[in-house]
Amino acid sequence: MKKVDIQKIQEGDFTNKKIILRADFNVALEDGNIKERFKLEACKKTVQRLASQPGTKIAIISHLGRPAAVKTLAGKPEGKRNKDFSLEQIMDELQAILEKKIVFIDDCIGERVQQALENLKSDEILLLENVRFYEGEEKNDSEFAKKLAENFDVFVNDAFSVCHRDQASVTGIVKFLDSYAGLCLQEEIKNLNRVMHEPEKPAIAIIGGAKIETKLPLIKRFEETYSHILVGGKIANEAIDQKMTFSSKVILPIDFAKDRLDIGPKTIKRFKEIIALSKVVVWNGPMGKFEDVPNDFGTRQVLDALIESDAFTLIGGGESVQVLEESGLMKKISFVSTGGGAMLEYLSGNDLPGIKALRV
Ligand code: 3PG
Repeated sequence: MKKVDIQKIQEGDFTNKKIILRADFNVALEDGNIKERFKLEACKKTVQRLASQPGTKIAIISHLGRPAAVKTLAGKPEGKRNKDFSLEQIMDELQAILEKKIVFIDDCIGERVQQALENLKSDEILLLENVRFYEGEEKNDSEFAKKLAENFDVFVNDAFSVCHRDQASVTGIVKFLDSYAGLCLQEEIKNLNRVMHEPEKPAIAIIGGAKIETKLPLIKRFEETYSHILVGGKIANEAIDQKMTFSSKVILPIDFAKDRLDIGPKTIKRFKEIIALSKVVVWNGPMGKFEDVPNDFGTRQVLDALIESDAFTLIGGGESVQVLEESGLMKKISFVSTGGGAMLEYLSGNDLPGIKALRV
C-alpha cells in the first residue's frame, strides 16, 4: 500500500543541495517595527538543521501581506511590487534571530536568484522577495511554480500558518521538487493533533475575535468532544444579536463591559472558574477590542487564568499571540501555534492543502 505520510526533513539527505524553504514572515509591522517576532523565530530550528549538513544552500521564501495589483496613470498594469510589502524590511531582525548573515535579493525567480545562490557563502542565508509580488502565486499558476522551483533541488515547507492556502509556493512547487516538512510544521501538526484527538478531559475551547461565520465550524467541531466552548469578543455580540442557538456546552457572555467592547466581570469570573478545572485549553481570538485599553481587560484576565492553570494550553491566532508576546508570557503556554486561519481550519477538521501536498 502507498505510504500516506509527510516526508520529514529528518529523513532526507541534503548534502550539497540547494533548498527553497517556505517560511511565513507575514508579520504585523508598525512604523517599521516587527510586532510578531515569534513568526520569524519559528523557522530557526529548521534552518539550523539544514545548514548543519555539508554544502547546503538555503533560500527562504515567504509572503508579506496582501499586495494588490496597481495600475499606472496610463492604465497599464504595474504589477504588485510595493516597497511597503517588501521582505527587505525584516532582513535585520531575521539576521539577529537566525544568527546568520542574510543576503536579500529583490526577486524570487529567475537568473538573479540563480546567481545569488552561486555566490552564497556557507554561513549565509538567501532571503527572497515577497512571493505575492507575482500574480502567479495566489493563482497557483503552474508555470510560476515551476519557475520558483527551477533554481533548487529540494523544497521544505515550514510554514504551517499558510498551509490553508492553495498557492504556488505552498502546493504548486511540490509538483516540481522533492518536498519535506520542516520541524516547525511537524510540531504544529503534533500539538494540534494532541488537542483534537482524544484530549484529556475536561477539555475546553475559548473562541473570540470577529466574524462568527468563520468560527462556527470550529465551535461545532469542539461541541462534539469538548466539555465547554467559551465565546467572547465580537463573535459573542454577533451570535447574541443574530439570536443564534447552541448546545449547552457553548457559553456566551452573561455581561459585557461598556459599549460591549469587552466581556464583563461576571463572565470573566465564570470563564476563570471553568478554566481552573480544565485539563486542556485551546484559545483563539481576543475577548474584546483588546487594542484599545481598557478593553484588553477581559483578554488579559483570561490569559492570567491560563498561565495559572496546570492544563495543557494551546493558543493561536495573530491577535491572541500578539497579547501573549507583548506580555512576555510565551514560555508559560504549553504550545503557541503560528496559525491563525490555518489553525482554525485544521482544528475544524479540514485537510489543509499545504499538508496534503507533502504526503507521499
Ligand atoms: C497568516 O498570517 O495567517 C498567514 O500568513 C496567511 O496569510 P493570508 O491570510 O494573507 O493568506
